[in-house]
Amino acid sequence: MKLHIRQMTPADLDEVLAIEQYSFPTPWTRTVYENDLKNNPRSRFFVALNDSEDGELLGYIGNWVIEDECHIGTIATKREMRGRGIAEAMLIHTARMSLAEGVTYIILEVRENNFAAINLYKKLGFKRVGLRRGYYRDTGENALLLALHDLESLAARDIAPFLAQTEEKAVE
Ligand SMILES: CC(C)(COP(=O)(O)OP(=O)(O)OC[C@H]1O[C@@H](n2cnc3c(N)ncnc32)[C@H](O)[C@@H]1OP(=O)(O)O)[C@@H](O)C(=O)NCCC(=O)NCCS
Repeated sequence: MKLHIRQMTPADLDEVLAIEQYSFPTPWTRTVYENDLKNNPRSRFFVALNDSEDGELLGYIGNWVIEDECHIGTIATKREMRGRGIAEAMLIHTARMSLAEGVTYIILEVRENNFAAINLYKKLGFKRVGLRRGYYRDTGENALLLALHDLESLAARDIAPFLAQTEEKAVE
């Protein structure tokens, strides 16, 4: 399978929202996504697609670039496609795009019980820089604040071999 990463558009939202529904305790609505895509110049939202005829949407990531910071707001992979390096590829893509924009660090909040996501970020070099108690109002969970300053190392990582062939197309 080859992966194609490109900017998210409103036409992607049916597939994005289907993944969103089962991926988060409080899914974002269509309106939230539409507002970001149409009205927020700081948004950098990407989708990862199976680069075949059907172009199935396999995952997405939503980032905001504010000055020299890239804040990851959301990331999810289609359930049956998890564990194949798709989220990792989207984060490598984010690091490459961020470097091109002069970003110096990437930051995000993650639920402290979300072990899959925490493992993902730690694997890629993110470090804990803070704790936000009761940050998630739906479950009362704390948020870990994780940051990555060494964007170069993440950007230089190889994308998983079975996804790597389309990396040239990933930079749009
Ligand atoms: C977290 C999530 C985005 C990971 O997506 P993915 O495409 O399956 O992740 P990858 O295949 O790229 O995994 C890369 C690394 O993440 C870690 N990881 C991913 N899933 C994991 C799991 N279920 N358990 C433990 N570690 C996991 C591993 O370190 C993995 O590297 P490895 O395969 O060499 O062990 C996915 O589980 C998801 O969509 N979850 C629901 C939404 C969510 O929680 N988003 C994060 C919000 S902060």
